[in-house]
Amino acid sequence: MEGLCIGNHQQPRALYVHTFGCQMNEYDSLRVARMLGQEGYRSTSDPASADVIFINTCSVREKAEQKVFSLLGRLKRLKNRNPRLKIVVAGCVAQQLGEDLLDRFPHVDLVLGTRAIGALPGLLHQSLEEGLRKAHLPEHDEEGWKDLFGQSPDWESLVVAPVTIMQGCDNFCTYCIVPYVRGRERSRPAEEILREIRILTRQGTREVLLLGQNVNSYGRGLPDGMTFARLLRRIAHETDVVRIRFTTSHPKDLNDDLIQCFAELDKLCRHIHLPFQAGSDRILARMNRRYSAADYLEKIARLRAACPDMGISADVMVGFPGETEEDFEATLDLIRTVRFDTLFSFRYSDRPFAKSSAYGDKVPEDVKARRLTQLQALQAGITLEKHRQEVGRVRHVLVESESKAGNGQLTGRTSQNRIVNFEGSKDLIGNLVPVRIEEAYSHSLKGVIGRGATPC
Ligand code: SAH
Ligand code: SF4
Ligand code: F3S
Repeated sequence: MEGLCIGNHQQPRALYVHTFGCQMNEYDSLRVARMLGQEGYRSTSDPASADVIFINTCSVREKAEQKVFSLLGRLKRLKNRNPRLKIVVAGCVAQQLGEDLLDRFPHVDLVLGTRAIGALPGLLHQSLEEGLRKAHLPEHDEEGWKDLFGQSPDWESLVVAPVTIMQGCDNFCTYCIVPYVRGRERSRPAEEILREIRILTRQGTREVLLLGQNVNSYGRGLPDGMTFARLLRRIAHETDVVRIRFTTSHPKDLNDDLIQCFAELDKLCRHIHLPFQAGSDRILARMNRRYSAADYLEKIARLRAACPDMGISADVMVGFPGETEEDFEATLDLIRTVRFDTLFSFRYSDRPFAKSSAYGDKVPEDVKARRLTQLQALQAGITLEKHRQEVGRVRHVLVESESKAGNGQLTGRTSQNRIVNFEGSKDLIGNLVPVRIEEAYSHSLKGVIGRGATPC
């Protein structure tokens, strides 16, 4: 990228990144920061002092999209104050709206679709030098950023690093916009993933979070019958990473080979995020999820048989079109049966392109709101009970950082993905530390560095 001389200034340009949505967006934003870091940019947490503002967007629910619009509205003031400021919008809203975003927000300079991030340095250069305003939505992935990790050894290390292993989704759940904005499912070659993880571990990463909309189907389209379970075994055996996690799993593709990995691979965290979306078979069929509540419960039973101490989280939504009280009760029953550690619960909203947007039997907003409150109250009780059961145990915690509360505490996670705060020296960041759990809260645990008992 020498010819672009984006960073050829006396003062490095300042880059402000704001990320909405899923961890795959977080990963893309990290890549953008690295990519522009190589061009001489430095990161800033203050949008008012930025030369470039990069916004990575999500359109999975109506509320997510509205948050993007409201941020874009607020940025107009900054552009008025500094006409040289460049505002770039990427991610799923960018892919969904393209040119319309440029029309609706005249202070936005570049709109980059979900396959376009690799083109950012070149387009930004043209925008800075020639005032280019453009929506770039290529049909194939732009490759400009493939080798970034190898080229930036001095990058600030992440104790837990995301690694996208596949893009897109072929499942077409009827409520979901993702297949339309992220495109068809495509898996990254295993060698490329292993290489990236080796570089990350050399830079200090201890845990990798493997990302995909449906990681269980990893490998489709790759040579040699590659599967997700094989990828996990290779990462466990062929890299120095200490812990491996992954998200998201689709219940229909969770097979025994993968379940076996939890029993077999010490590095694989005892946690699975397995969205079930609804407990009623009628609704599951209308959602095109391709499993029944009984299938789901059977997979949970198999996971627990292979690994009794498994942390289980999920996504669920209320108010899918046609959801009756009886259907909703089936969802509550499933929650009572599984007793999830954590649940991410959403109110259904219509999305562009999604088939269910055309369904006539919509559930009124007040009913959705009431169901969501009821569901969340049920889960809050279960989470707290499960947290209380942790008190007295000693758990291995991977220390990620100082606690955000700023009270001199450290924060990290157990293998089961529970957040634990405890007092300790900053030098422990990046280490697996035995912590005795002493107090249970609704979203986290508190402990002390443990002695005596064997951690698990
Ligand atoms: N690939 C993952 C989830 C991706 S989207 C999976 O298959 O589970 C994250 C969550 O957003 C979904 O699990 C679902 O619960 C929620 N979601 C997706 N579309 C939605 C919509 N139209 N309305 C409300 N919630 C939605
Ligand atoms: Fe959306 Fe379904 Fe794909 Fe998940 S599996 S991203 S919910 S279409
Ligand atoms: Fe949102 Fe796109 Fe991720 S819609 S959830 S940012 S794939």
